[in-house]
Amino acid sequence: MGQAFIVTKEHRRFSEFANAVRKEQTIGICHGDAGVGKTQSARRYANWDNLAPYIDKWGPRSDADAGFYALANRSRTVFYTPEVLPRPKDLVREIGHWQSMVNICVEEHQRAIGKITGPRSPGRTFVELLIIDEAERLTPMALELLRDQHDRTHLAIILIGMPGIDQRFRHYPQLYSRLGFSHHYRPLGRDELLFVLDRHWTRIGRTLDPEDFTDAQAIAAVERITRGNFRLLERLFPQIARVLKINQLETITDDVVEAAASILVIGD
Ligand SMILES: Nc1ncnc2c1ncn2[C@@H]1O[C@H](COP(=O)(O)OP(=O)(O)OP(=O)(O)O)[C@@H](O)[C@H]1O
Ligand SMILES: [Mg+2]
Repeated sequence: MGQAFIVTKEHRRFSEFANAVRKEQTIGICHGDAGVGKTQSARRYANWDNLAPYIDKWGPRSDADAGFYALANRSRTVFYTPEVLPRPKDLVREIGHWQSMVNICVEEHQRAIGKITGPRSPGRTFVELLIIDEAERLTPMALELLRDQHDRTHLAIILIGMPGIDQRFRHYPQLYSRLGFSHHYRPLGRDELLFVLDRHWTRIGRTLDPEDFTDAQAIAAVERITRGNFRLLERLFPQIARVLKINQLETITDDVVEAAASILVIGD
């Protein structure tokens, strides 16, 4: 990700949704347009940008471990992105691997704080939620295996996908009948768009004043072009900076925004 994660209202809504799915031990679907921030939210919720590299490396134990154990204990979540056309066996094995690694971390934390003593019990599981990104990649067989795991272990599952993924799951009655929540991840609202724009303006050394006529027009142009879509915003700004530089301009006007947008390939 190009810049620091912004805790948006949509991210907070996502967290509440994930907490609910987890509490109810159900299966939830999160859908929303490409680039609105679904993946970033889910990774953040699972502390995955920290945990995944740590688990992947799994080096000799050190003093730093306790911090990661505590993170795992807080999230108790596995985030997983299937390959394109995943082989069901690989999928199950890989998810199982992440689950047991996060499980070990949580258990270590529980031991450290004295909540658990005595020998390891193999059946004990601490992972409460599995988040699967790009869920449209799941084959019917993979969906069936996940459904089976959910039935046996009551593991809460969130499937993240594009708009319409919930409709697709209608074709799998066994899965569909188990769906607890459907969550629509929305683009940035106007206030938050302004907040994000303000940061972008600052980053290229300008100050944004929504009361100023020129700025207001530029904001309107950005709003119209990006419709509050995070990814489009992220792609638009380097182009805006470029247009300013090439034309030796100081001010971001709506013309500058339009010129920047014309360089990008934007759908619709
Ligand atoms: N909360 C956030 N704070 C800062 N930047 C963000 C945030 N959410 C998203 N972004 C930016 O927007 C980009 C797109 O976000 P993300 O990949 O999460 O979208 P998505 O909804 O998963 O899209 P797709 O459906 O294509 O997978 C990110 O690469 C990042 O640059
Ligand atoms: Mg994504």
